[in-house]
Amino acid sequence: MANKIIEKISHGLQGELIIPGDKSVSHRSVMFAALGDTPVHITNFLPSADCLSTAGVMKALGAQVDFLGPTELIVKGNGLHGLKEPATVLDAGNSGTTLRLMMGMLAPQKFVSVFTGDSSLHKRPMGRVIKPLSMMGANIVGRAENTRLPITIVPTAKALEGITYDMPVASAQVKSAILLAGLFANGTTTVVEPYTSRNHTELMLESFGVKLGYQGTAISIEAQDKLSAPEEILVPGDISSAAFWLVAASVIPHSELLLKNVGINPTRTGILDVLQAMGADITLQNQRSSGSEPVADILVRSSKLHGTSFGADIMPRLIDEIPVLTVAAMLAEGKTVITGAGELRVKETDRIQAISDQFNKLCPCIDATEDGLIIQGTSPEKWQQGTCFSYDDHRIAMTLAVAGMAGQGVEIENPDCIDISYPSFYEEMHRLYK
Ligand code: S3P
Repeated sequence: MANKIIEKISHGLQGELIIPGDKSVSHRSVMFAALGDTPVHITNFLPSADCLSTAGVMKALGAQVDFLGPTELIVKGNGLHGLKEPATVLDAGNSGTTLRLMMGMLAPQKFVSVFTGDSSLHKRPMGRVIKPLSMMGANIVGRAENTRLPITIVPTAKALEGITYDMPVASAQVKSAILLAGLFANGTTTVVEPYTSRNHTELMLESFGVKLGYQGTAISIEAQDKLSAPEEILVPGDISSAAFWLVAASVIPHSELLLKNVGINPTRTGILDVLQAMGADITLQNQRSSGSEPVADILVRSSKLHGTSFGADIMPRLIDEIPVLTVAAMLAEGKTVITGAGELRVKETDRIQAISDQFNKLCPCIDATEDGLIIQGTSPEKWQQGTCFSYDDHRIAMTLAVAGMAGQGVEIENPDCIDISYPSFYEEMHRLYK
């Protein structure tokens, strides 16, 4: 894997980009379609390594998954109660979403499932899903006191029981795992979040005819006999991918980018709120619906940013965007203080450590705290070129690329991990170089 050299952009970024399909929605489209018994035509699917892991897992469980092109597929399941015992170990690759949601879907099944994944996924905490599923009666065995891969789900004699679970951290993956298990459990299953996390599972379950109960941040589900799959799922563009361009165009002078087809589900738009609070010039155009999700085209022009502070309450709405927001803060006037971001330490890598170790090489202006970052903004003239490691974390690699474009250039070690969520990122970047 050769290093990737990113040069400083001297004349701004101009043009249009079509933002690829949303990773969270792409995962769920294949998983839920595989629980129906009629074909679902999925378009604008994200053909990234993570989503292909989910497609592979659903095939192994007996679903028909036929790609008509890279971003278009037809998925047909054998009904809600028709999953088949997989003949081999289920490999979630690098994908926490695949693993955590599938644990919820498979915990109630009457067959054994064994999960594995890559070395990063083996280090990530799974106790947060195993604990509530075990409270529902599931029998799950994992390494390190049932917190780590490899994980085996052993069928139980009795059906799972619905519970009310107060989640200690806001996590869409944990919430979704419990709701999926609740589809098969006796009685009502309720999850209560400290703050609302992304709600793609809820929206998609509703589009499959499931009625959910809502009270504050609590969501309830009942067992279902069947799901009524929609004929079509149109995946919106991923705001987490648009995020790299939102920041790049904001901080690189003389930029103007039109980002087309970006999902603007309010549980995901924390980055827009923070960038606007920093003084970014962002306009939403052509707001419309893409299936059950809202989308818009976003026009972003370079502007002078200033520092800001944000914390736990907004965190679930922008957790994946913290790395790239750090670059915005590094180039803003004044100080930015980020708190309540402890979850970053258990992502694909410890992102707080990764950000402070690598981005300080380009400009020593970041202090890491236990649950956040303090960033002192500087002008790009004070930055230097550097060689920085991606930790094989897609969002760190793409954020390094933005930092390189906006600062004085960068050489990225292990750059290919962008395939996890945005395989065309470097191509798009080169297209925009002037
Ligand atoms: C995701 C939820 C978030 C996010 C991840 C995708 C999802 O993780 O960071 O990239 O699709 O449900 P957590 O649930 O751990 O916060």
